Amino acid sequence: ICIDSVEQALVAEVNGASRVELCDNLLEGGTTPSAGNDKTSVSYGLPPPEEDVAFKHGIRGGDFVYTEMDFYVMKEDIKVAKQLGADGVVIGALTPSGDIDVPRMKELLEVARPMSVTFHRAFDLVRDPIQAAEQLMELGVDRILTSGHKRTAVEGLDLLVTLRKHCDDRIIIMPGSGVNASNVRQLVDTMDPKEIHLSAAKLTASSM
Ligand SMILES: *[C@@H]1O[C@H](CO)[C@@H](O)[C@H](O)[C@H]1NC(C)=O
Repeated sequence: ICIDSVEQALVAEVNGASRVELCDNLLEGGTTPSAGNDKTSVSYGLPPPEEDVAFKHGIRGGDFVYTEMDFYVMKEDIKVAKQLGADGVVIGALTPSGDIDVPRMKELLEVARPMSVTFHRAFDLVRDPIQAAEQLMELGVDRILTSGHKRTAVEGLDLLVTLRKHCDDRIIIMPGSGVNASNVRQLVDTMDPKEIHLSAAKLTASSM
């Protein structure tokens, strides 16, 4: 369950979520969470969060090509996540031509281990998804969060099924984006994913 506040971690836990992805700015696709959120989550004994170190990607409008300074900050954020007790990080870096930035991913993985590593939806912008999946498996990434190169996972089901078959059990293909109570069954039945990613969000009226 993807969340952007500690209250949501409590709700996710009570309702049986096995993992939370802690971000800030979910409305912008999720960015690196504050250290305060991380720390509170861990000190409340909540499921250790997987921290989304998707540095500024909302602000940058979905571009996952980082400057040297961005890259440096990402590595620092990963170290902070580790110190604060996160179980994993959610990261991704691409080249301007739309390939996985393998050398940078190698460096990020070195900083992140032994935490688990998820490659986030930067995957949905790669030029060649099968080649990219191969590279991520070679790098030893634990899972890929993807909506099958479409706006939502349901729309991207064809590619999700292809990836699931191609990768088998070598990496977890975790569908996400637009997943909700009415379509989750269809995803599960069609691609048999090991894990599924959703925010289960609903709009509530302000108390004010
Ligand atoms: C789930 O998403 C679909 C597609 O976006 C939408 O049509 C449907 O109303 C949503 N269902 C719920 C329960 O939110």
